[in-house]
Amino acid sequence: MSKTFYIETYGCQMNAADSEVVAAILEHEGYTRVEEKFEADVILVNTCSVRENAEQRARGRVQGFAEVKKRRPEVLVGVMGCMAERLGEALFEQEKNVNIVVGPDAYMKLPELIERAARGERAINVELSTTETYPGICPSRVDATAASGFVSITRGCDNFCTYCIVPYTRGRERSRPPGSVVNEVLALRAGGCKEVTLLGQNVNSYRWRGEGGATMDFPGLLGVVARAAPDTRVRFATSHPRDMSDNILRAIADHRNICRHVHLPVQSGSNAVLARMNRKYTREAYLDRLRAIREILPGCGLSTDVFVGFSGEREEDHRATLELLEEARFDAAFMFKYSERPGTVAARKLPDDVDEETKGRRLQEVIELQGRLSLESNRAEVGRVAEVLVEGPSRRNEEEARGRTEQNKMVVFPGKGRRAGELARVRVKGCTAATLLGEIEEG
Ligand code: 5AD
Ligand code: SF4
Repeated sequence: MSKTFYIETYGCQMNAADSEVVAAILEHEGYTRVEEKFEADVILVNTCSVRENAEQRARGRVQGFAEVKKRRPEVLVGVMGCMAERLGEALFEQEKNVNIVVGPDAYMKLPELIERAARGERAINVELSTTETYPGICPSRVDATAASGFVSITRGCDNFCTYCIVPYTRGRERSRPPGSVVNEVLALRAGGCKEVTLLGQNVNSYRWRGEGGATMDFPGLLGVVARAAPDTRVRFATSHPRDMSDNILRAIADHRNICRHVHLPVQSGSNAVLARMNRKYTREAYLDRLRAIREILPGCGLSTDVFVGFSGEREEDHRATLELLEEARFDAAFMFKYSERPGTVAARKLPDDVDEETKGRRLQEVIELQGRLSLESNRAEVGRVAEVLVEGPSRRNEEEARGRTEQNKMVVFPGKGRRAGELARVRVKGCTAATLLGEIEEG
């Protein structure tokens, strides 16, 4: 009988993509994936370290597997991803259920680690690599019927924003060969995907150096992918404002199948705070990029990440963030409270000096403001017809379908048999701050 594994994924889209790489590696070794943890010989948790509460959630899950271990003492529990990288050996001490610890660059070693753990050893590999991109692995899709798939194009990050753990957990930035990116896109398309998202911590700085001095940058890769799969929607995330060049925007404009949506994390609207974050742009430079996006890509969807309460954030810095949100008019935003991460430059040099109550109040103000702006952005869609890629039934009502517009807005509508992967023309009839509500436009 073949061995089985069960995998749970937390954190960003990169982690979702990595879980599919790990699944492919294990399946190649003869393992079978199961959906039920009680049926698994190996349980894996792909973890995130970006904020303290992400780590707490992962710990809760790992502790919960005690239940499985009680029933099946031979089951092995592995922690993979950013938290494995950050905590290493310490995880064995802190979490009694853990048998395997494997970092983001060591997944090729996972079959060997599982064997060692099965012999009762503590199996760990958290070596970071400057070259590993898993070029030969064709990821095994967790949801084989999904309309949308992920393809990582870069790994790691060299930006060293002072608050961020990622350069330490995912190591140096490196780009995957264009051929391997295109092969994955084509494999997803052959498997029924109608949309691919090119992933990296900072996709804009994609740069492949081939033999004989040939290079390919991100606009080049966008063109190659868009032409290789002209009937597939192409998305990408995440972009860094400093590297969001007009050339990239023109590459999007040149290809109808590249979605008009840019996710451009701003983090703060205050120049003083941006400087302490080492973001390498000012508020003015950021707003200039938004202007360029709106000029070169009219109707482009825009979203951002922002967090409150970073070291030294004064009331006036916070107001500058609120004013920037007003001015930028993002369609959507992910909003957080600063969480100090051990080992970062901020943890060493910049005191976590905004008290919890102030962080909470500022976050609430940001959420309320963006809620109003998101609602206004959605209201502007009412009456229009949008092309929606159906992702599946709506979470609340099986009769309704859920999908996304090119601008990445979520739409819910009476499904009339429309299935994941189909395109529907939907007239928008109403909205909330998070969702458009519509009806299929017949004919
Ligand atoms: N605390 C709070 N939010 C953070 N992010 C990254 N690091 C931290 C941190 N230490 C946010 C940023 C980033 C998103 C993925 O998470 O907004 O863009
Ligand atoms: Fe979390 Fe960042 Fe790691 Fe993604 S790369 S899992 S967001 S810490």
